[in-house]
Amino acid sequence: MKRQLLASFGAVSLAMLSALADGASISVDMREVRGETAHDLWGIFFEDIDLSIDGGVYAELVRNGSFEEGSINRWNKALPLAAWHPVGAAELNVREIEDDGGKRYRVASIRAKKGCGFSNEGFFGIAVKEGVEYFLSLRIRGNKAPISVSLDRTGALSAATGEIAAGGGEWADVALTLKAVATDSRCSLVFRTAADEDFEVDCVSLMPGDAVNGLWRRDVFERLAALKPRFLRFPGGCWVEGEMMKYAYRWKKTLPPRSERKPQWNLWMYWSSNSVGFYEYLLLAEALGAKPLFCINAGMSHKQNQPMDKMGEYVQDALDCIEFCNGDAGTKWGAVRAAMGHPKPFNLEYLEIGNENFGEAYDERYALYHDAIRAKYPEIKLIANFFKDWHVKSRHVEIEDIHHYETPEWFMTKGVEFYDKAAAATSFFVGEYAAQDAIGFWGDLKGAIGEAAFMVALERNPGKVRLAAYAPLIANVEHSVWAPNLIYVSTDTVFGSPSWTVQKLFAENMGETLLACAMDAPDSKFGNLDGKAIVADAVLAGNGDVVVKAVNCTGEATKVTLNVAGGKRECSYVRTVFGGEAADVHNSLYEPERLKEHTIRGNAAFPIAETLPPLSLSIYRFKELSQR
Ligand code: AHR
Repeated sequence: MKRQLLASFGAVSLAMLSALADGASISVDMREVRGETAHDLWGIFFEDIDLSIDGGVYAELVRNGSFEEGSINRWNKALPLAAWHPVGAAELNVREIEDDGGKRYRVASIRAKKGCGFSNEGFFGIAVKEGVEYFLSLRIRGNKAPISVSLDRTGALSAATGEIAAGGGEWADVALTLKAVATDSRCSLVFRTAADEDFEVDCVSLMPGDAVNGLWRRDVFERLAALKPRFLRFPGGCWVEGEMMKYAYRWKKTLPPRSERKPQWNLWMYWSSNSVGFYEYLLLAEALGAKPLFCINAGMSHKQNQPMDKMGEYVQDALDCIEFCNGDAGTKWGAVRAAMGHPKPFNLEYLEIGNENFGEAYDERYALYHDAIRAKYPEIKLIANFFKDWHVKSRHVEIEDIHHYETPEWFMTKGVEFYDKAAAATSFFVGEYAAQDAIGFWGDLKGAIGEAAFMVALERNPGKVRLAAYAPLIANVEHSVWAPNLIYVSTDTVFGSPSWTVQKLFAENMGETLLACAMDAPDSKFGNLDGKAIVADAVLAGNGDVVVKAVNCTGEATKVTLNVAGGKRECSYVRTVFGGEAADVHNSLYEPERLKEHTIRGNAAFPIAETLPPLSLSIYRFKELSQR
């Protein structure tokens, strides 16, 4: 018997078998359909946090290319010039100038001895891949001799080189293609003069030729695409609110050409360039095949609110953003969108008012947005915040955004019951959730399995839970002020946490209808919380597969008798197993693929006796079960 079990589940060790927990049973009935699953259930939440945009999904390799990043932080503490350095005998200063139209902007002014110059370090280094082209653009004036450009470790290795011709006294736009002849993950972009020089530079950009749609870092984009998101909530999170109203996210400020966009202090401790603005987020959603879900500032920041008698412009922003997304090119804001290059509407369906706002102040502001939007755009699905136990009372709420940052044990117990027990009256958007462990900087297996149990419970409550997204989505490993995150990015590596694999597996195995699934599982203790050892549900997929998801929340391998009634008695199946290892196992920069799912194929004659490895998610796809 032991040998047989070992043969079918490589991940189960002999030690685990000796500790097999009491059996459980999962009984699915194909004849009992419990309604449709929530069509838009699994999405992603994109916040500008942890350098998830600049230094994350946005492919730009130069940091602070506009020289506009502030020289002070929000506490008026002086910051060094971000990412730029003099090279050799050179001085590099930033100065503000005014153009003919009176617009003020900052440029770099460089005084350098022959052979010296300046460099940009990118986002903790610039990764260069042999054979890939890199498109450099910049504005320059005053250089009397040519300037050499290289991607290298300040002289050690030239991965790519080029030359900017001598210029004159007027600003000139320069475009240069650098082709990499070597691979190096920590280059700088280095400019060296061919003579003693005194000149100015602005708007420096370096885009890799393999960027998706010329905008998105390919390996990061692929990690997002693998999640098959049905929606993309953006751009925050607390980033939407800002600490004070002057740092609140205002989408209209992000529309000008990139060279004119002003960076903004981000409460996650850096300057955001706004290079990915409202329009680019919509492009990202479109490229991913996800519905955009914009979370607009509700006239509230962490420490200040917009006075009620001055809310008009904020509410107008909400109306205008709908017109920008959905209006035809004949409307004022539809015309702006068309002029930016997208004549077709983006079809905004969901609009969230505020992030984690609550109390009377939120209630009265929500009412303003609600009334204005309902009057003009009744088709928009409005989402209200549900935070600190505050339900909006002033208006009927269609969808409430609720956030859960809890321990893995909470997700396995209270979390699993939360939506089973919730009143049916409201629909929920579980807008942010993640298991947080004491030690889980990278996110570990236990957290991911807690979330898997929770996701089963979300999936089996389609009447109540319409949308859900893990948070946060992306972190640059060099600037992760929040932990854990779903995807980690360094200059040349991208990897998913164990939670990423869980998210991917749920998205890949979404069904169309929910099937009756009765469970009988042993009780189990999770810390001081009581729950069930196994959590499971069953759905019917579009291709006719019966998909059963079974999560073993315990640290012991657990026997399960699995039956599917109402179809054929025998069938082939594919089983995907994730987990079966110690609670704290995780992926990291040093072992990015430490945890991976495994696929097993087999034939079933119901009922089948299975063993669920400790801390694991098993997804069974039973094939061609329907009786014809
Ligand atoms: O996801 C990180 C933060 O958690 C979000 O900015 C905020 O909405 C929540 O408190």
